[in-house]
Amino acid sequence: MPPPQPDVLADALIRVPRHTFIPAQGWAVPQGSGTPPAAASGYWIDQHRDPDRWWRAVYSDTVIVTQLDGGRTELTPANAAAPSSAPSCAASSPLLVTAGLRHLAPRPGNRVLDIGTGTGWTSGLCAYLTGDDALVTTVEIDPDLARTAAGNLARCGLRPAIVTGDAASELPSSDGESDGLFDRVHVTCGVTDIPYVWVEHTRPGGHIVLPYNPPVGRLLRLTVHEDGSATGRFGEECSYMPLRSERQPQRPDEGATRTDTPPRVRSLDSASDSDTESLLHPAPGLQVLLAALVGDEPWTGASGSVLLTDGVSRAVVENGGRLTQTGPRDLWDEAESVHRAWIRRGRPGLDRIGFTVTPQRQYVWVDDPAVPAVRALDETPDARPAVGASLG
Ligand SMILES: C[S@@+](CC[C@H](N)C(=O)[O-])C[C@H]1O[C@@H](n2cnc3c(N)ncnc32)[C@H](O)[C@@H]1O
Repeated sequence: MPPPQPDVLADALIRVPRHTFIPAQGWAVPQGSGTPPAAASGYWIDQHRDPDRWWRAVYSDTVIVTQLDGGRTELTPANAAAPSSAPSCAASSPLLVTAGLRHLAPRPGNRVLDIGTGTGWTSGLCAYLTGDDALVTTVEIDPDLARTAAGNLARCGLRPAIVTGDAASELPSSDGESDGLFDRVHVTCGVTDIPYVWVEHTRPGGHIVLPYNPPVGRLLRLTVHEDGSATGRFGEECSYMPLRSERQPQRPDEGATRTDTPPRVRSLDSASDSDTESLLHPAPGLQVLLAALVGDEPWTGASGSVLLTDGVSRAVVENGGRLTQTGPRDLWDEAESVHRAWIRRGRPGLDRIGFTVTPQRQYVWVDDPAVPAVRALDETPDARPAVGASLG
């Protein structure tokens, strides 16, 4: 990771103040518990009715939701708290925004592409850090949000190019350079499949910083290479709303999963099965591998059972240790297999784990950026059945 630039960033936070980008009313969700914050744990802020509460929320580590369901659901306290409505725009957590910008490390004169304009705050910060708003282009899928962001930015005296469109499929070129490439690409919506077009639009030697794997994920900083690949490592834990074009299903709780296969039931055997606690509170390296290879990490549902789901298959471990797996995948067995392989491999931490994107494929790796983790883990002596074999 590059050395932090605390002074420049501190200046940017003063010159492009967050409050300019926050609407008079919103839903504030405090961060910092270590678990992904649920929208229901938030509170309503209204600048006119309770200015103190509004200012405290704006200048604390809160995500401030500004839109629900792409604007189809009115932003009200009741709707924001309802599990049936999904936030579709928010001013991100200031701590994560600053962490992401430190990894991005835009330098004066860099051309920056900011994906997910939202309120406009991060594109404003990028404009300040490059020293010229003409060097920044930002893409927003929602025209109403793009218009509001333009007004917010103008109040700070900033006019970066705002493009309305789906950044997963089509990107603008940078202005003023014959190759149209960007030095930095900054993403503030969560992605699982990284659109290769982001690599194509980045200059070799340039960086892409993105939240990898919603809903529970980590910041990922990729460096683009001359051969068209990009490699990098993971940083802070984060929770961002997914890129709209690949919105993930909400984690279904205890309700039934629709499936044609009969449920497989067994009792977890402490001698041969993984310790549920280790999977429930995975070390960062194991967490990244679970996210990439299984697609979820175990979590505790409302009834106290431990759950694991990819939206189709599901594993439920009841308090007594009774395991029920439904759907085409035996997700609990896959998670145990990843856990055992991670232990055999010497419990690698984030210093040994990274991510590679090429035009053909993308994968998480352990130690060697050229070898997908799914192979590296399987090749470890005493390998058990393949883990997530389709994911390499
Ligand atoms: C967490 S918000 C971004 C926060 C923003 N950077 C800020 O400073 O306020 C995510 C934004 O990404 C936008 N978005 C989601 N999918 C997108 C896509 N495929 N292309 C462009 N923008 C997208 C959403 O509409 C939303 O405004």
